[in-house]
Amino acid sequence: MTQTWTTLGVLDWTAKRFADQGISAGRLEAQLLLAYALKCSRTQLYMNFDKPLAEPELASYRELIKRRLAGEPVAYLVHETEFWGLTLTIEPVVLVPRPDSETVIEVAIAVRPDRAATTRILDICTGSGALALALAKEYPSAHVIATELSPEAAAVARTNVVRNAFTGRVEIREGDLLAPVTGETFQLIVSNPPYISTAVIATLSAEVKREPVMALDGGPDGLVFYDRICAAARELLEPGGALVVEHGYDQAEPVYARFVAAGFQNVTLVKDLAKNPRVTHGLAPLR
Ligand SMILES: C[S@@+](CC[C@H](N)C(=O)[O-])C[C@H]1O[C@@H](n2cnc3c(N)ncnc32)[C@H](O)[C@@H]1O
Repeated sequence: MTQTWTTLGVLDWTAKRFADQGISAGRLEAQLLLAYALKCSRTQLYMNFDKPLAEPELASYRELIKRRLAGEPVAYLVHETEFWGLTLTIEPVVLVPRPDSETVIEVAIAVRPDRAATTRILDICTGSGALALALAKEYPSAHVIATELSPEAAAVARTNVVRNAFTGRVEIREGDLLAPVTGETFQLIVSNPPYISTAVIATLSAEVKREPVMALDGGPDGLVFYDRICAAARELLEPGGALVVEHGYDQAEPVYARFVAAGFQNVTLVKDLAKNPRVTHGLAPLR
């Protein structure tokens, strides 16, 4: 006799299977995958929790579970994720934006509280466009420029500009770090660049290794992007403007040193939601 699987039954089964595999947000991920397989919202799942699933629905759900258990991030499987209340299209050519990166946005708002007076913002290494779009949401008077070296990632970022109705306010420019904005000035510059040391990449979890190497590799010491960003950003900031960067939990000291060497003032470290050192910010001097 074949077993009848209801929405609730498959969610319970998957949540347990994911927990056994060490997937921490297992129940949420099961809901996201089932909603994707059934082409409905998570809320609709619970409106029909005792409904038996049809075999084609179960087959496409099983395939997703198999891929998730093999290490594919859920955002790549359902082609989207949430960041700062925005829904972003996500493909394997971009890093999956992390909740910890929302700390960059919180810090930016704290150091540049005057929303109306902040009109020029730069996001370096934008990936999916997560930071650029969150800042456009928070600073309604701002024109936000975002740079990205990978043409494939830049294409995803542009999709997200349109999807979130920021056309004309957020501009994605392809190129190396600050090269696409030579000669322009900003009041706020943010970046979450690649910051994993090259040698450590081979030791990362199966899940993180699915993400593009170009989004992870921060060179031999993981710090090459901060060497370049701190000095160059200082030149493009208006007096009193702020640089806010995300970094690894163990990189606070070297990143602090680079801010100071580049001439930033009020250099400060901020911890993320998990209380790990995560974001450093500083101000360009008021000449
Ligand atoms: C760690 S990911 C961060 C993406 C996004 N800022 C976020 O927080 O989700 C770094 C991004 O930098 C891009 N990148 C790598 N080298 C770059 C360079 N030299 N210039 C511009 N972007 C670069 C990668 O392609 C990747 O999209």
